[in-house]
Amino acid sequence: MPLEKIDPRQRAWVEVFPEAIKANTQAIKRLLSDNCLLMAVVKADGYGHGSETVAEAALDGGANNLGVATLQEGLDLRKAGIKCPILILGNLVNVEDLKACLRCDLMLTLSSSNEAFLCQELAQAMGKKINVHIKVDTGMTRLGCNLSIASELITLVENFPNVSLHGIYSHLALADAQKNSKAELFTYQQKEKFEALLANLRIKNKLFCRHLANSAGTLRDKELHFDMVRVGLALYGYSPFEYVNHDCALKPALAVRARITLIRDVPAGIGVSYGHCFVTERPSRLAVVGIGYADGISRALSGRISVLIDGIAVPQVGSITMDQLVIDITDNPNISVGAVVTLLGVDGGMAITPYEWSKVSGSIPWEILCGFKYRLPRVVI
Ligand SMILES: Cc1ncc(COP(=O)(O)O)c(C=O)c1O
Repeated sequence: MPLEKIDPRQRAWVEVFPEAIKANTQAIKRLLSDNCLLMAVVKADGYGHGSETVAEAALDGGANNLGVATLQEGLDLRKAGIKCPILILGNLVNVEDLKACLRCDLMLTLSSSNEAFLCQELAQAMGKKINVHIKVDTGMTRLGCNLSIASELITLVENFPNVSLHGIYSHLALADAQKNSKAELFTYQQKEKFEALLANLRIKNKLFCRHLANSAGTLRDKELHFDMVRVGLALYGYSPFEYVNHDCALKPALAVRARITLIRDVPAGIGVSYGHCFVTERPSRLAVVGIGYADGISRALSGRISVLIDGIAVPQVGSITMDQLVIDITDNPNISVGAVVTLLGVDGGMAITPYEWSKVSGSIPWEILCGFKYRLPRVVI
């Protein structure tokens, strides 16, 4: 039986704007000095926008490299025909994964001598050279080797015949801290530790790429850029801080929309949705919207957000459920079934941003963007 094709905009969907990603990439590039590279971080399926779409748009806008978190993400990009250097920012510890990495020319992150020995043995057995970046922990305390053994690990790798050292990097933990705060100082302490390590290296080949900054580091200060910046959030149109001025106009690259599937008039005093957390105070016109927490609209947002219909803000009421949520359209009685509701993004002259959702749900813009599930088709505009 032939598969039915349905309109992706029938119920709920995510619109993705590659032109915005391209423009954001170009805007970020303008902040960098001529010899500083830009790595577009497209992990988590391009922060929910679709990694292939984002990768192509970012490369079109002048990105030099791509960063992913997992082997599968790297392989997917290679399968899509993307040829630029790709660094896996997570670490791989399994021999089969390393083999796939070598076959598909993906660059690896090394955080320990065990990982380094494994790479050397495997690349030697396959008669190949594996390209790696060594990650050093200067204060994030996640991946990366301890600073005290970094020099030793770098020297070890430099002497391995089948491992090619392409980069040395670290990751900032507090780069989105407020200006002149104690936390801001920590970023500069991380930078100093990174610089001291690099200055004291006793290796022959110093042509590796040094990188430290994420979006926050990139937008905050050129001094943090080194040879390459690794930019995620800003690429998607959002700055990690609302309070630090930066000379970079960013455009949101995504909108989440859904349709009204039912409209009902109910009297005052009626409990709405699970738990009856909202009770109508007046005779009300309620609309059911076909999107819920199984699509990535967190339950924590229940009763705390508005949506946009033709540029008008309408309150969401009651608990958000798995597949549906309810909005109160009493003040806008002309709205009809099938109307498009914007949950996140721009509609008319109005916009709803992940910052607003973050504030009411205790989340962060990163989590919100990559939280939209695959029941929502991505529609590239
Ligand atoms: C190692 C590394 N570099 C860069 C980034 C990009 O961060 P951002 O989205 O804040 O720019 C990430 C994302 O978490 C990361 O893990």
